[in-house]
Amino acid sequence: MSKSFELPKELLLGSATAATQIEGGDVNNNWYHWSLAGKVGNGESSITGADHYNKYVEDVELLSELHHECYRMSIEWSRIEPEQGKWSSEGVEHYRDEFRRLIQKGIKPLVTLHHFSCPQWYQEKGGWLSENAVEDFIRFVKFSVETFGDQISEWCTINEPNVFANDSYMDGKYPPGGHGDIAAYMKVTKRMVIAHLKSYKLIHQIRKEKGFAGETKVGFAHHIAIFEPLNSHPLAKLGCFLSDYLFHEIHMKGFVEGKLVFPLGSGYPEGKGIFCDFMGINYYSRHLFKASYNPGNLFATPMVDPTIPESSKNDLGWEIYPEGLYKVCQRTWKRYKLPIYITENGIPDEKDEKREKYIIDHLYQLKRLLDDGIKVERYYYWSFLDNLEWNDGYGPRFGLVEVDYSNMKRKPRPSALRYAKICRTKKIVRP
Ligand code: NOJ
Repeated sequence: MSKSFELPKELLLGSATAATQIEGGDVNNNWYHWSLAGKVGNGESSITGADHYNKYVEDVELLSELHHECYRMSIEWSRIEPEQGKWSSEGVEHYRDEFRRLIQKGIKPLVTLHHFSCPQWYQEKGGWLSENAVEDFIRFVKFSVETFGDQISEWCTINEPNVFANDSYMDGKYPPGGHGDIAAYMKVTKRMVIAHLKSYKLIHQIRKEKGFAGETKVGFAHHIAIFEPLNSHPLAKLGCFLSDYLFHEIHMKGFVEGKLVFPLGSGYPEGKGIFCDFMGINYYSRHLFKASYNPGNLFATPMVDPTIPESSKNDLGWEIYPEGLYKVCQRTWKRYKLPIYITENGIPDEKDEKREKYIIDHLYQLKRLLDDGIKVERYYYWSFLDNLEWNDGYGPRFGLVEVDYSNMKRKPRPSALRYAKICRTKKIVRP
């Protein structure tokens, strides 16, 4: 592997966050209620966050000091629509000011509309399983694009629909805590596909009608992992194939091609076309599939390669597998030739011993892709700040910037400073 390399200036480097994970202070979203029910970490709560809602001015300064060129963030739906049909001017003013500051600093924002959380009123109606799930979401999208569309040209409709449906209805980790409910997984996936397709058209339409400046770019953030059978056992292979199909493939067909495939349905609910202007990829790890006779696991259980050393794992025990980034990008590029945004890639590493190498090794894979003529246009490290890792609470430390939760002080980790230099120079010299 080459020791030093350079990345093109056109590849924008930055980081990503999500509102519920960093803002704190919101009592109207479903994760606050999930926390109250004791389902987060060790009795921890989303009410804490990293206090970003109050510290956003300081945080934007910090992003700028760290030379970030782009920043992916989400709007908390419940701050904009705390009660159904009631729009909050406070929420609107807050985000407009945050966007204004980012733009002023020359940091390009990419805004996610659905990043795992929703208003509690939406959850109480049944969330994505409710009759009006798509309609309610689309109303929020319309309001947001009309309200922020002059500032924001790049939109990510839905974050990780596969992880969302899995963790909410199969694994019980996210509200409403469903277990093994494959019917709900499919129903929600189908609705999210339709919501994305409608949003794609709507965002383009609104920004065009209103004459908002800047090229409109709309996509979603797909969690794509490397899935491989553990061995040649037929069930390991079958389970791996089925998992890949249901976790990756049906989403690509739906969100990108506008096509419902089995078991979601058939045909093109919003017409034929390509419904993404970029391919957003969240890439973290590789999973091996071990044959198991439990049909709930689709005949195979995902696991971490038992032979890899601790040095190749992160603090949550996930395998660090940079080559996988090359493979997942190649997979989508071959099929769609859509510009790629790495909407997330990062490591929980409290001691900050592996982060710098992790980032460099993954950037090196981007360099390989670019050398092969594959258009990679953005890299958003996950995450800018330490934050609430959903049901795992505040333990995992993904941040470039350390947050001391006792006083909310920020401290860029050494890796953040090294990454800042890479963002500024695009030159990578391995330590
Ligand atoms: C993907 C999710 O979008 C994000 O919210 C989460 O914190 C990271 N993965 C790390 O697990």
